Amino acid sequence: MTIPDRGELLYEGKGKRVYSTSDETLVRVVFKDDATAFNAQKRGTIQGKGVVNAAVTERLMQVVAEAGVDTHFVARVAPDEHLVKRVDIIPVEVIVRNRASGSFAKRYGVEDGLELEPTVIEWCYKSDALGDPPMNDATAVALGFATEEQLHDLFEGAAAVNDALLPFLDERGLDLVDFKLEFGTLPDGTVVLADEISPDTCRFWDAASGERLDKDRFRLDLGDVEAGYQEVAARIALEETS
Ligand code: TMP
Ligand code: ASP
Repeated sequence: MTIPDRGELLYEGKGKRVYSTSDETLVRVVFKDDATAFNAQKRGTIQGKGVVNAAVTERLMQVVAEAGVDTHFVARVAPDEHLVKRVDIIPVEVIVRNRASGSFAKRYGVEDGLELEPTVIEWCYKSDALGDPPMNDATAVALGFATEEQLHDLFEGAAAVNDALLPFLDERGLDLVDFKLEFGTLPDGTVVLADEISPDTCRFWDAASGERLDKDRFRLDLGDVEAGYQEVAARIALEETS
């Protein structure tokens, strides 16, 4: 296919820049090395993160697409850049938890790493200003963030993503502790997976040692942040990062 040229900057988020293209149905997304945590109270740079996140997201979007989940992904057009379908992002962050960690372990006072059965799927309202507050279905519908039908699609989509990623990552010695997904709607209303699936948005632990190989190294000042990202890239998408 012909790759449409980059147009104007439409939106700059904490981790990515979104540009229009000559095709109004497509946008180009550049993954940044900038890192933030705790709703941007902590800021820094993780060298090479943009390329790692673009490579890992490309591979994991392929894996979930093969499992039948529709995504916005079209092509990786540069080491740190994707061409994707333009969507309206649904302001619901979908959090999938196979183990308790992070805010969940803190909220319920349980051990970090506790296995969760069944897997927990939660909604947060996508709002940095409010700190992405957790919400239930009624809140999301009453405040107009999503319809009942969309929440159904989000739940089924997130469960399917988890089912596809768990065995793929297990084969690569990675324990998928939890992750965050965002979905969007195409002009015809179809809900598709959007955003990214990367060490910024997932907790990946080494399956053998429990070592954290994701953004928690930055959040918690564990050191060797770049090495963690490179290790995830090497296991998931080695050929794409060079
Ligand atoms: P949490 O434990 O802080 O609630 O995070 C759960 C998962 O969601 C974890 O893998 C990190 C990811 N996440 C994001 O990608 N963006 C966010 O804004 C938050 C709060 C979490
Ligand atoms: N992405 C959020 C932030 O930048 C939260 C996090 O990942 O810890 O603040």
